[in-house]
Amino acid sequence: MGRLWKKKEIRILKGNIVYSRNKDELEICEHSYLVCADGKVDGIYQTLPFRLGGNPIRDCGDCLIIPGLTDLHIHAPQYSFRGMAMDLELLDWLDAYTFPEEMKYGEMEYAGKAYSIFAENMKKSAVTRACVFSTIHRPATMVLMDKLEKTGLVTLVGKVNMDRNAPEGLCEETEESLAETEIWLEEVRSRDYRNTGPILTPRFVPSCTDRLLEGLGELQKKYALPVQSHLSENLSEIRWVSELCPWSGFYGDVYDRFGIFGGECPAVMAHCVHSTEEEILRMKEKGVFIAHCPESNMNVASGIAPVKRYLEEGMNVGLGSDVAAGSTENLFAAMAHAVRGSKLRWRLQDESRKPLTVEEVFYMATRGGGAFFGKNGSFEPGYEFDAVVLDDSRLSHPQGLSVRERLERIIYLADEREVRGKYIRGNELFFYGYNI
Ligand code: GUN
Ligand code: FE
Repeated sequence: MGRLWKKKEIRILKGNIVYSRNKDELEICEHSYLVCADGKVDGIYQTLPFRLGGNPIRDCGDCLIIPGLTDLHIHAPQYSFRGMAMDLELLDWLDAYTFPEEMKYGEMEYAGKAYSIFAENMKKSAVTRACVFSTIHRPATMVLMDKLEKTGLVTLVGKVNMDRNAPEGLCEETEESLAETEIWLEEVRSRDYRNTGPILTPRFVPSCTDRLLEGLGELQKKYALPVQSHLSENLSEIRWVSELCPWSGFYGDVYDRFGIFGGECPAVMAHCVHSTEEEILRMKEKGVFIAHCPESNMNVASGIAPVKRYLEEGMNVGLGSDVAAGSTENLFAAMAHAVRGSKLRWRLQDESRKPLTVEEVFYMATRGGGAFFGKNGSFEPGYEFDAVVLDDSRLSHPQGLSVRERLERIIYLADEREVRGKYIRGNELFFYGYNI
């Protein structure tokens, strides 16, 4: 009997293709063909191979084509007050603005309205993948997941767990928090999402008792889930954690004690601004991902994380917007803030390490963070085909510019009007049309 070959689904984009070869080098292929076969990158070609002839080609003219960006840390319920409430340090900011806003997501009407806006705007951005916090509320978390699923974005979404140090209405009983989490996981399983998955989300140690973290560790094993949380963000927070968990060697040791800090459990920790040598060593041993959120670190007066060091030492580092401590979901802004922050760190704090480069921040926003989702964030063959088309023709200039210079300018100007098209796993989410 002859074998039946299913014809591969081919998609071809033509333009100026840019991706990170590694943290220090960009691969730039001008006026080339980027070929996708069955949702994966097939290759990049200067001239299209004969075997691919006959497939339709999306000619993007002089546009740049980059891998989709990954936001490793964003709070969906806080999107409603982005760009506001920037006058307080982390713990006071949580009490004064964040917790009262998050309480509103007990009401489905409010949650529906707010999460529609969030999902729509995320869809329009340059982000293709994201790790997302919701609130403690299970029904609203399902609404968020349903809406994100429909956008085509690939997301990991977490129902937040909190059983202490929160106002009434945002504080769960320990066993109730665990039971609700398990009901949520079963509900997610029954939905059969293609793009959206669950991620366990203890808010941070001050919000979670040891018993809650222990129970989440058990759920992690039972369901083989990833985990997201906050780590060593702000000095007053770190001091508080050492008082709450005097038995711990350092902040991250608390998560590790309960089996939710890398190793068998993929984990992404936001911030790591003030991690100790011991904590850094443990993160390296366990392959913990760091979500660097530079704008947030400035806005809530946390400090400047030593990301240059994390990158040089081969750690897993990506970027996070951390909305609403960060003001925007625009990851070009996060890249620009990362460079600027690193310059201040170099000038004021540690002259031994140079500021971050454009190559490094682009790497973090694509390959670095993308790796949390597997083979993602690159255009090497076999990677998942997530691509963003950038049209910078509105930014006129008298002189000739290289593709690298154009990418640099798009990053620093950080204006998402340049986003013209977006593809995830080979599917077109949108391509704003006019014929070039
Ligand atoms: N730590 C605990 N919760 C939060 C939050 O919502 N935002 C930030 N930036 N840090 C946190
Ligand atoms: Fe956060």
